[in-house]
Amino acid sequence: MRKNVVVGNWKMNTTVAEAVELASAIAERIGSGEAGCEIGIAPPFVSLTEVGKVVGQSGIMLAAQNCHFESDGAFTGEVSVRMLEAAGCSCVILGHSERRQYFGETNAIVNRKVRKALDGGLKVILCVGETLEQRQQGVTEDIVTTQVREGLDGVDDVSRVVIAYEPVWAIGTGKTATSQQAQEVHASIRETVREMFGEAAAAEMRIQYGGSVKPANAAELFAMPDIDGGLIGGASLKADDFIAIVEAAR
Ligand code: G3P
Repeated sequence: MRKNVVVGNWKMNTTVAEAVELASAIAERIGSGEAGCEIGIAPPFVSLTEVGKVVGQSGIMLAAQNCHFESDGAFTGEVSVRMLEAAGCSCVILGHSERRQYFGETNAIVNRKVRKALDGGLKVILCVGETLEQRQQGVTEDIVTTQVREGLDGVDDVSRVVIAYEPVWAIGTGKTATSQQAQEVHASIRETVREMFGEAAAAEMRIQYGGSVKPANAAELFAMPDIDGGLIGGASLKADDFIAIVEAAR
């Protein structure tokens, strides 16, 4: 039986003080974070240490939004896996469409990051998803399958991987995929995981949906058989909305 996982991706929002305030509001109300759903938040890098102190023993997973694939060295502006762990992170979001779109991350780059993060002991949320144009061309399944295959290439153990299906056209647009549209892609992702890693790994793999998840649509999405929680952008910046979404996943 898979446990739902709901993670708030705060993207480039909140100062350190604002992040601490938001994390405190969430931690106070969520309690132990147990009871049927794993919960995480991914604040910007500069807030990780302070937010880590707030979430402390709450059971809320602290996640980063990116990392580099090298261990250390002359990579101005980049952050390593070891730095994230020292800052209290246990998880990193990789391959987000905004990283692919604005920062030129290819499947090959994402794959290097995935392997580095897993080798370093982090959990990974691997994001995949098609653009509107790709959906209209009818190549959604091909695109997503390739992202999963190339993103997880060379990985032996996927037990610390969560896949987030985020259709690009649904991110921040208020346009959510219907639960049927999402379910269809989630089922095909699970099939790809089965082909790559076998039956047991596929049955255990958590596949989150991301893209305009809100309190009003969360329960319907999470009720689908292959949707195991959500990766939440905008709605995770309001404690009330985020908690309502967590409740829908519990
Ligand atoms: O990673 C979360 C995401 O991209 C969805 O963002 O604002 O549509 O919930 P949003």
